[in-house]
Amino acid sequence: NNKHYFSSELVRWYEKERRDLPWRRTRDPYHIWVSEIMLQQTRVDTVIPYFNRFVDRFPSVRQLAEAPEEEVLKHWEGLGYYSRARNLQSAVREVVDRYGGEVPRLKEEVSGLKGVGPYTAGAILSIAFDQPEPAVDGNVMRVLSRFFGLEDDIARPATRVRIEGVAKELIPHGKAADFNQALMELGAMICTPKSPACPTCPVREMCSARLQGRQSELPVKTKA
Ligand code: ADE
Repeated sequence: NNKHYFSSELVRWYEKERRDLPWRRTRDPYHIWVSEIMLQQTRVDTVIPYFNRFVDRFPSVRQLAEAPEEEVLKHWEGLGYYSRARNLQSAVREVVDRYGGEVPRLKEEVSGLKGVGPYTAGAILSIAFDQPEPAVDGNVMRVLSRFFGLEDDIARPATRVRIEGVAKELIPHGKAADFNQALMELGAMICTPKSPACPTCPVREMCSARLQGRQSELPVKTKA
């Protein structure tokens, strides 16, 4: 069926085409966490040098927890949205105080950390620990809305919840890390908001939006 087709073709494509990014060379949950926070409002190419400098200077939860805040902010300079850096430092201090410096593996615990929403929690648990948790951001909502022809308004919180359910069902056994990153990669490289590169898409043959010529109409989004 189309779910199995989607997951297997997507992962096959990712294994061949994945970009070699610094945070894809590690399974350290703290490093994955740093990368996901930086990537939330900032492009991959911009994040790369910041990520490298940051984990070089603050290689562990404990070293970030113990650093002076002004030095942390200094390493964030140019990335913007400085509350991300302050929240990250508060959260690693929580990890030291409550979890002995180890990023917890329970969804409820990770999600309870400052600045860690459902997307970031899912990304950490799947990428670092290969847990079958969805990591649904705007890119993933776009990809899944188009492929499955979902008409729900992605501006509604209930839509994210629904799409998280869809995404979770799609995760191939034992392949949560690759599958979630493959989805992000497809949204970034192929299934872009404007002029998606459908001719090179690994799942084009069963994509509802492409088959109906509705790529520009999906996803449905009301408010800006
Ligand atoms: N955007 C958000 N998370 C990402 C990741 N792990 N790799 C590339 N782009 C991303």
